[in-house]
Amino acid sequence: MIRFVTAGESHGPALVGIIEGLPAGMDLSADMLANDMLRRKMGYGRGGRMKIESDDVRFLSGVRRGKTLGSPITVFIENRDFRNWEEDMDPAPRSGAPGRGVFTPRPGHADYAGAVKYFHRDLRNVLERASARETATRVALGGIARQYLRLFGIEVASFVLRIGAFEIPESELPPLGMPMEELREKVLRSEVFCPVSEREKEMIEAIRAAKKAGDTLGGIFEVRTSPLPVGLGSYVQWDRRLDGEMARALMSIQAIKGVEAGLGFEAARRPGSAVHDPFVPGRAHGSLERTRNHAGGLEGGVTNGQPLWVRAAMKPISTLYSPLPSVDIRSGEPSPASVERSDICAVPAASVVGEAMVCLTLAGAASEKFGGDSVEEVLGHFRATVGLKQEWESITGNDERRC
Ligand SMILES: Cc1cc2nc3c(=O)[nH]c(=O)nc-3n(C[C@H](O)[C@H](O)[C@H](O)COP(=O)(O)O)c2cc1C
Repeated sequence: MIRFVTAGESHGPALVGIIEGLPAGMDLSADMLANDMLRRKMGYGRGGRMKIESDDVRFLSGVRRGKTLGSPITVFIENRDFRNWEEDMDPAPRSGAPGRGVFTPRPGHADYAGAVKYFHRDLRNVLERASARETATRVALGGIARQYLRLFGIEVASFVLRIGAFEIPESELPPLGMPMEELREKVLRSEVFCPVSEREKEMIEAIRAAKKAGDTLGGIFEVRTSPLPVGLGSYVQWDRRLDGEMARALMSIQAIKGVEAGLGFEAARRPGSAVHDPFVPGRAHGSLERTRNHAGGLEGGVTNGQPLWVRAAMKPISTLYSPLPSVDIRSGEPSPASVERSDICAVPAASVVGEAMVCLTLAGAASEKFGGDSVEEVLGHFRATVGLKQEWESITGNDERRC
C-alpha cells in the first residue's frame, strides 16, 4: 500500500511531504523531480510568487546515495518567501497581533468556512494551508510515484484543452496513440501547455483579456497514460474501483470542480453504439484488441489494457484583483473581498498537479497488484502477472480448468 501526507503553510518556513510504501532499490534523485517542479511553476497568467520560489526538493529520509531504502521518503521544499513573512508566520510565540491579518473572506475560498470550522478570527490561519502552494509537495511526491510507474513502463503526460470560453476542437486534439514523448515536447513548447500550436494564441489572449478586466479564468486539462497493464483497481468493492479513486484524487486538487473518465459527460449524450469500444481479435492467439478508447482505459473500475485518459475542469481563480463584495468580519460591514497576490489563470500548473495525482493513484493501484519490499520482488510480481495474462490468453480457447 502506498500512502502519503503533506504539510506546510503557504508562507511558512517550508513544505513537507511523506510517502510510504515504495520498494527499496528504486533509483531516485532530486534531479528526477526537477522537471515536474519547474513545470508546476510555469504557465502564462501566473502570479509573482512563482518567481520567488525555486521549489528545489531535498530528501530528508528514505533515500540513500540515489536509491530508495523502502522506508518512508520525506521531501522538503523551502518557502523562500518565508523571509518576507517571518514576523507573521514565525512558529515561535510572539507578542502582539501579526501585521498581515485577513478579515474579509474571499468568495470561492475556504476563508469563511475554515474560520468558522476551526474557530479562527484571522482568516490567514485558513488560507495559508488551503492555498494551492501545497500542490508543490504533491508534485514532488507525484514525481516519486512516476519513477515507480516507470518500473512497469508506464508514462503519464497532460495538456490543456480549454481556457475560459476557448476550447480546442476535439478533432484537432493529439490522437490517443501519439507517443508520450512527442506529446510532452509539444506541450512544453507552449506557454499555456496547449498541444496545438496554432491554438495557443487564443488561450493566451483569453487570459490577457481577463487580466485587463481584473478577472480570472479556469479551464480544462487532460491527463493521459501509455497503455496500462490489465487489472489495476477492482470491480468487487466500491472503494476499490480505480475510476472512483481517480475522480477523488483529481477532485482533491484545489479549484477542480469536475472530472471525466474517457468520454465522460459526452457519453451521456450518445447512444451506446457510439460510446462502447468494440473488441476485435488481437495478433496473439486468444488476445483481444479494441477499435477505439472512449472508456478512457477503465471498465468496471478496472484498467482494461488501454491508455487511461481523464479530464478535469478547474474553476476560475477565486482571488480577484477587482474583488467581489464581502463583509469585514470585525465590523460586520460590507467590504470588498481581500486580495492576496494571485494567479489570473493556473490551468497549466493544475495540469501538472493532475499528472502528479494520477501518478500517485496509479502507483497505489500498481503497488496493490505488483507490490513488494524490493524492486526485485516488485518486478518479479509484475513479470508473473504479465505471464499469467499470456497464459489466460492461451487457455481460454481450449482449457476448461476454470469456469
Ligand atoms: C496550481 C493552482 C494554483 C492556484 N493559484 C491560485 C491563486 O493564485 N489564487 C487563488 O485565489 N486561487 C488559486 N488556486 C485555487 C485555490 O487554491 C482554490 O480555489 C481554493 O483553495 C478553494 O478551494 P476550492 O476551489 O477547491 O473550493 C490555485 C489552484 C491551483 C490548482
